[in-house]
Amino acid sequence: MKTVERVEALREAVAGLRARGRVAFVPTMGNLHAGHLTLVREARRHADSVVVSIFVNPLQFGPNEDLDKYPRTLEADRRALEAEGVDVLFAPPVEVMYPVSLEQQTRVEVPEISALYCGASRPGHFAGVATVVCKLFNMVQPDLAVFGKKDYQQLLVIRRMVRDLAMPVEILGVDTVREPDGLAMSSRNQYLDVAERGIAPRLYATLRAAAARVAEGERDWDKLADWIRTELDGAGFRTDYAVVVDAATLLPPTDKSSRLVILVAAWLGKARLIDNLEMEIK
Ligand code: PAF
Repeated sequence: MKTVERVEALREAVAGLRARGRVAFVPTMGNLHAGHLTLVREARRHADSVVVSIFVNPLQFGPNEDLDKYPRTLEADRRALEAEGVDVLFAPPVEVMYPVSLEQQTRVEVPEISALYCGASRPGHFAGVATVVCKLFNMVQPDLAVFGKKDYQQLLVIRRMVRDLAMPVEILGVDTVREPDGLAMSSRNQYLDVAERGIAPRLYATLRAAAARVAEGERDWDKLADWIRTELDGAGFRTDYAVVVDAATLLPPTDKSSRLVILVAAWLGKARLIDNLEMEIK
């Protein structure tokens, strides 16, 4: 595996890979866990070579968020990617990604969908994500890029950006990888203390219980969302949002909606956890 920090070296390495066939790309913020490694394996299944980036993107963190505390484990990440047979690791320093100040940086805004849910709680977050992903796509120029469905809204924001800006990149969404007790894998799980870690699986358990109510005939989506919030707050979370929405638009379900997604974000101590559950309705 070649590790590069500069765009020129990245382009040179990727040109060599492109000559061998399709190039898949997995953008990450590092601190890799089994969820990320699943994305890498999916990338490998769909392409001839795999490029991974590790960059903790300051543009997607709010002023009071965990940018400084965000876990950085580059050496361990490098070893894990090497073991997965990744071809190129792109780990740029901040000044390579943002040679101009963040205020001067051109941004990519995906309207409407970016303002909902996580976007309402974290103003500017999705513009930060869309901008860095656009920039990384221009640097790597992959045929395919792989994202986890745990960040469901992020995946939709990126799909819209690619569609609206006619970017020649196929986007693949991969199912969330979970701990044996159901907790979605996330770098932010490290912020949980032992007692909170015991409570955390209730997030997914509550989503599953809500889906069971839908299977039994529940169709009052606001009532279901309220029920989720009450369950989570009762278990010790501070629910940020809980919604039941159309899986394609993230707007309230209509008569035509056949695929729904329950989206939740909830604080547990210092950790803001997100999760979701997709379901079909008839
Ligand atoms: O999902 C993430 O880890 C980040 O939001 C991403 C897509 C790597 C952009 O910084």
